[in-house]
Amino acid sequence: MIKFTSVSKYFPPDSYAVNDISFDIDDGELVLLTGPSGSGKTTIMKLLTREHLATSGDIFFADKNINEIKQSQIHEHKRKIGVIFQDYKLLPELNIWENIALPLSIIGKKQEEIEQRVTDLLTLISLTDKAFLFPKQLSGGEAQRISIARALSTGPTIIFADEPTGNLDRETALEIGKLLQKINSFGTTIILATHDHDIMELFKGVRQIELEKGKIKKDTKPKKESKPDVKSKSDVESKPDVDDKKKIKSKLKETKDYKLKNTDKKNKTK
Ligand SMILES: Nc1ncnc2c1ncn2[C@@H]1O[C@H](COP(=O)(O)OP(=O)(O)OP(=O)(O)O)[C@@H](O)[C@H]1O
Ligand SMILES: [Mg+2]
Repeated sequence: MIKFTSVSKYFPPDSYAVNDISFDIDDGELVLLTGPSGSGKTTIMKLLTREHLATSGDIFFADKNINEIKQSQIHEHKRKIGVIFQDYKLLPELNIWENIALPLSIIGKKQEEIEQRVTDLLTLISLTDKAFLFPKQLSGGEAQRISIARALSTGPTIIFADEPTGNLDRETALEIGKLLQKINSFGTTIILATHDHDIMELFKGVRQIELEKGKIKKDTKPKKESKPDVKSKSDVESKPDVDDKKKIKSKLKETKDYKLKNTDKKNKTK
């Protein structure tokens, strides 16, 4: 699904952020991308999303050479890759519901479909209770779970998590790691850039691509048993329970203008 062939990214005057790297990642794989600060992890993410154009080499994503994607098609390409950042990047003026709904709204999904999808995602991350809070009212772990839900909202086939536990304590970091394992067990490919030792321990046995100064220092092949032993595929299709749905529906009615352009109203109530 992803194939890097002799890829380099050069930044003038003299820096190779990645330097002649080659690897492939299959559909459904979970790969740890490790290496010290400055080794090229985020650069790989930005090459994949086409935020950066490779200086040389080819990058295939679902059999398409992404170096050849036209400028006008980059937004569409980016939507195929869910990205999770260390600092969450939630929009502070939107509530949790709206943060998760926003990408769906942008691609023109119908209201009914948005409501169903956001409800499912809130259930997946166990945060239905906090749907109408704002980002600053959340703990770091909760904020990261919301950003994972947002990354999943449009149904990307791959998630790139860039140091998602960098701001979290050990216990919370492990919760986030387990949530990513669960999402991977449902079939989503995950690239997890990290230098968090607790996370590396949690994912022991999982394929690891280790970078050093823009080069691949080590690439372990996935072991059969490395597939996270979480739940069965049927869980991903599991619907939120009826209470969750009712709770959210009634909340939605109460806040009848939960739509995305409601900041005026919010300002008035401040
Ligand atoms: N836009 C840029 N212009 C110039 N140099 C850059 C740019 N982006 C990255 N680099 C350089 O490329 C190298 C790799 O950076 P990158 O951000 O990929 O590292 P990283 O492994 O993600 O590090 P960290 O763990 O600190 O996030 C660094 O030396 C960095 O300074
Ligand atoms: Mg980085």
